Amino acid sequence: NVSCDSKRGALIVLEGLDRSGKSSQCLKLASSLASQGFSVEAWRFPDRTTAMGKMISAYLSSKEDMDDRTIHLLFSANRWEKRSLMEAKMKAGTSLIVDRYSYSGVAFSAAKGLDLSWCKAPEVGLPAPDLVLYLDIAPEKAAERGGYGGERYEQLDFQRKVAELYTALSDSAWQIVDASLSIDSVHKILKELSIQCISDCHRGKELSFLWP
Ligand code: TMP
Ligand code: MG
Repeated sequence: NVSCDSKRGALIVLEGLDRSGKSSQCLKLASSLASQGFSVEAWRFPDRTTAMGKMISAYLSSKEDMDDRTIHLLFSANRWEKRSLMEAKMKAGTSLIVDRYSYSGVAFSAAKGLDLSWCKAPEVGLPAPDLVLYLDIAPEKAAERGGYGGERYEQLDFQRKVAELYTALSDSAWQIVDASLSIDSVHKILKELSIQCISDCHRGKELSFLWP
């Protein structure tokens, strides 16, 4: 069946502040879509399993210091090293549910004061998400959620700046979801939007590239 073979998977990205619930929702979404018969994989950035990912992880836990632009490029390179696999998966019909992507890359670096367009430049040409699910939560509320884990960036003042930068990045692929709702309510919303997105991709929506 030709039309079936050519069905591509979707690129669905979850974004939001630290402690907005992205990681739990990402796994919950992937497993519930899988149990309904969709071909999906849960991914995350940074991917800490690669050599570059290990350098990023050391930076985040403050074991290593790095120049702001250097770490920015490393986060970006960590996406580029996964690009061909991302595209191959989607081409083969698998949808990727990704915990953070280029928007985190830009928002967190620009929140340090780096120029926004400089931050966006290394992301140009990466696959653009078909859907960005932004888990919207007040920075104060996120900070209350069992506290932060102690990694770099997990500070209220910094997260406030990140929230502003995210707003500046939102485009037509974004859906803003109220992350202060219950886990199940958020899940239900994410799932409906994702199924709609996956079926658009199956029906022939073409993959595009950053920045749309
Ligand atoms: P994580 O907690 O989702 O593993 O992300 C680790 C931190 O890295 C989080 O504070 C956001 C930040 N980050 C960037 O600064 N740039 C990026 O490109 C990505 C993906 C994450
Ligand atoms: Mg974290």
